Amino acid sequence: MDELKTRVLFSKDAIAHRVAELGRQISQDYQGESLVVLGALKGSVIFLSDIVRSITVPLQLDFISVSSYEGTTSLGQITTNYSFNIDLTNQHVLLIEDIVDTGLTLQHLLALLKDGGPKSLKVCTLLNKPEAHQLSHLLDYIGFNISKEFVIGYGLDLNENYRNLPSILQVIEES
Ligand code: IMP
Repeated sequence: MDELKTRVLFSKDAIAHRVAELGRQISQDYQGESLVVLGALKGSVIFLSDIVRSITVPLQLDFISVSSYEGTTSLGQITTNYSFNIDLTNQHVLLIEDIVDTGLTLQHLLALLKDGGPKSLKVCTLLNKPEAHQLSHLLDYIGFNISKEFVIGYGLDLNENYRNLPSILQVIEES
């Protein structure tokens, strides 16, 4: 990470604290029910693996593969790959996202998942960039709101690198 200039936006501890809070809230909201938790690959994997361990209601896990980014800008075209291993019909589905930027990926995924006939469909995102979209009403659980900066770490990548960093770092663009 020599040539990349960054600053810590959320430390490992700050993330762990917020993830535990979200997990408690989700557990309360779904008390007495069971859940299908769907992770949008690959960025949500680390967030998902932490948050499911804070959720106390019974749940099943599955993943959707999506991609639309190259470098730090959206390609505007989204490819999805979902094998529907778990039947979503009449299930409470919770979609886990790493970050909502333009919201294009989210809209695409929600349309796809609604076709699966779930009993309910909610969205939990670790990070939200509200300045970049008008879709905050679609987000049921938000870890942190951030501005338009590009971030890496805790699952988030820059050209597939840095996903393993334990904190979330803002990439400082050189002018
Ligand atoms: P959207 O479709 O523009 O909302 O983009 C959502 C997807 O773009 C996320 O799931 C990430 O994979 C990627 N993305 C958006 N912003 C960032 C960022 O700041 N860092 C890393 N990936 C990002």
